[in-house]
Amino acid sequence: MIELKDTCKTYQTKNIETLALRGISLQIEKSEFVSIMGPSGCGKSTLLHIMGLLARPGEGAVYLEGEKINSYRDKDVARLRNQKIGFVFQSYNLIPDLNVIDNVEIPLLYRSVSGKERRKLAAEALEKVGLSARLRHFPTELSGGQQQRVAIARAIVGRPKILLADEPTGNLDSKMGDEIMDILEDLQQLENTTVVMVTHDEEKARRCQRIVRMFDGQLVH
Ligand SMILES: Nc1ncnc2c1ncn2[C@@H]1O[C@H](COP(=O)(O)OP(=O)(O)O)[C@@H](O)[C@H]1O
Ligand SMILES: [Mg+2]
Repeated sequence: MIELKDTCKTYQTKNIETLALRGISLQIEKSEFVSIMGPSGCGKSTLLHIMGLLARPGEGAVYLEGEKINSYRDKDVARLRNQKIGFVFQSYNLIPDLNVIDNVEIPLLYRSVSGKERRKLAAEALEKVGLSARLRHFPTELSGGQQQRVAIARAIVGRPKILLADEPTGNLDSKMGDEIMDILEDLQQLENTTVVMVTHDEEKARRCQRIVRMFDGQLVH
C-alpha cells in the first residue's frame, strides 16, 4: 500500500541542518495495522507526513499502491492525498468557528459531492466514532477525547484506504485512549483500512499487528 525506499529528509533552518530521516526503507501492506514508536525527535512525525503526502522526501522514493509519486506535481499529490489518505493530527486541528458536522465535511468540499450527500456522509462518519449526539456542538464545547473522535471522523469521511494518526491517544486519559484504539481497530478489521499510528504507549502499540521502531532518523531492527 505504501512503500518508502531509502527516504531521507533534512530540515534547514537559519543556522542548523537537522537530518530528520536517514535512509528509511519500509513497506506497509494493505489493511495492515502498524504502530511507529521511538523517542521524541527521532523523526516519527516526519515519516508519517511523508507517508501521508503532506511533505516530500529530500531523497528516496515514495510509492503509493505501487505508483511512484516523487515526480507528481503538487496539484496531483493533493488530489491523491484527498482521495486515498486520512490524517489525524496530534493536536486535532479542528476549525474552532465550525461546528462538528461542518468540520467533518471539509475533505468532501474538495470533491464533487452535493451538500446533501456531504451531510449524510459526515453524519455516518460521526456515528462510527460515537458522536451522533454532538453534531451541532463547537470544538471548544467538547472534551479532548471527543475532539479527537471528530478529527478521526473528518479523516475517514472520504473513506480513505489509508489512515495515518500521529499520537492519536497522546493527549487522552487511558480510557479515552482505549476508545480511540477501538475505533482504529474497527476501521482496520471491518473496512480493511490500512492504519499507521505513532504512539509512545507500549500497551497501545501491542494492539497493532506490527511495531516499527525508530531511533535518530533510522529504523531499529
Ligand atoms: N519544520 C521543521 N523545521 C526544522 N526542524 C524540524 C521541523 N520538524 C521537525 N524538525 C526536527 O526534525 C527532527 C524530527 O522531528 P519529528 O519528526 O517531529 O520527530 P518526532 O515526531 O519523532 O518527535 C527533530 O530533531 C525536530 O526538531
Ligand atoms: Mg511527533
